[in-house]
Amino acid sequence: MEATISPNGGSVRERRGLEERFRDRVSPNSALSRKTVSYQGNRAAPGLRWMKYKEGFSRSLVDEFVSEFRPAAVLDPFSGIGTAPLVAAGKGIEATGIEIMPVGALVGRGIAEAANGLRRDTLEGAASELLADLESDADAHEYAFPHVRITEAAFPDETESAIAKARMFIDAVDDHATRALLDLACMTVLEDVSFTRKDGQYLRWDYRSGRNLRSRVHKGRIAPFAEALGGRLYQMLHDVDELKREYGGGRPEFIIGSSLELLRETPEASFDMALTSPPYANRYDYTRTYALELAWLGYGQGDFSKLRQSMLSATVENKPKTDWLRDVYGEDDALLSKAFRMYEDQGAVHEVLGILRQRVNELGNRHVVRLIEGYFLEMAVVVAELGRIIRPGGVVIMVNDNVRYHGEETPTDLILADFAERSGFVCENIWTLPRGKGNSSQQMRRFGRREIRKCVYKWTRTNG
Ligand SMILES: C[S@@+](CC[C@H](N)C(=O)[O-])C[C@H]1O[C@@H](n2cnc3c(N)ncnc32)[C@H](O)[C@@H]1O
Repeated sequence: MEATISPNGGSVRERRGLEERFRDRVSPNSALSRKTVSYQGNRAAPGLRWMKYKEGFSRSLVDEFVSEFRPAAVLDPFSGIGTAPLVAAGKGIEATGIEIMPVGALVGRGIAEAANGLRRDTLEGAASELLADLESDADAHEYAFPHVRITEAAFPDETESAIAKARMFIDAVDDHATRALLDLACMTVLEDVSFTRKDGQYLRWDYRSGRNLRSRVHKGRIAPFAEALGGRLYQMLHDVDELKREYGGGRPEFIIGSSLELLRETPEASFDMALTSPPYANRYDYTRTYALELAWLGYGQGDFSKLRQSMLSATVENKPKTDWLRDVYGEDDALLSKAFRMYEDQGAVHEVLGILRQRVNELGNRHVVRLIEGYFLEMAVVVAELGRIIRPGGVVIMVNDNVRYHGEETPTDLILADFAERSGFVCENIWTLPRGKGNSSQQMRRFGRREIRKCVYKWTRTNG
């Protein structure tokens, strides 16, 4: 029997109401799997395998939806390494990706470059010269890896010098496409040659770094930089021909910036499909996970917190963007006012927030409340913008996870479906993946085990 009160003794009325409203749209979809909605499906994919961007979805997922709907123009407003724009553009479809993390956007651009412009022999020649340069005795004193606090002591000394040499070499390469790919190759091996490992929410430190003396992590053998880089360059050269076949049908546009700013500038009805996976409301901090890569790209200490604050709110560090959005849109902007109203009227969000505010002293981190407020307010803006940008008859396909804090389930799928239906869409399907995620072990002890839905949604833009 469905519980009538929440694990904290609060009301579930609003959440049950949403469940009732969308009950006939929620269904399992056996064609979808954890593999297709995650990076796992890209492990062997040419280009996409260069960077372990674990937050990505697979090319087969994109392929499936693009083949089914045959859109003329596709947008991914949270494009990561560009899986959706690359696959769509490869089929001759006009494709745009917006991504705030340059790490992801540069991978997408690099793959597009390899598929559309790059001359394989030029890259091969430059790659051999670079590797030979790394073997030479010369030192590169003019450059030092631009560490920030969380990357200090990340590399063995010899690696640090080899990285410096590579940087000096790459900066002197004339051919733009070759330079971009060599730069990308270096960026994508930084984790492998470091004392760190991307691990869920954290960057874990190997005890050999001397940085965290309590660490017991041993990564195993850490490859010298030249070896790791050589391996990546070999893989890139190997992939070029296949990339030209697969993604050579057109060049996607990758814009580096925030969708919270850029969607506003996108003309009305300019896309007939949005295929996307926004950050989940799960505290995951991209700037921490990709710290080495951001530092390589020249992000200084101040840039890190600026970037974190500009991203869609999904961490406890994110501060409210309400005033910032008013500045971007203008005080009386109709779309922004509508998005704010959608958020204010959303009963299930406020039911959860009300309970968490009452229990704030029991929360692992009190700013979880601010995270949920920010996430749904900002997603209301994104969904309202999609309602304006997607042509009548067009579709939005979105991958997202529900979340639970302090035992309170936050049905992201149903809340966003409500925003979508207030923005000119019909929520047609909320496809659940075969198995959702469980609780954290601590939460399980307290609140028992229930599954959290992991879903793919389909919203169709009405003709009205
Ligand atoms: C779940 S990942 C999407 C991965 C992508 N589907 C792929 O295959 O690589 C969400 C992405 O949204 C990006 N992001 C977060 N806030 C953003 C914003 N305000 N504007 C644009 N992108 C943002 C993150 O950097 C992250 O790459």
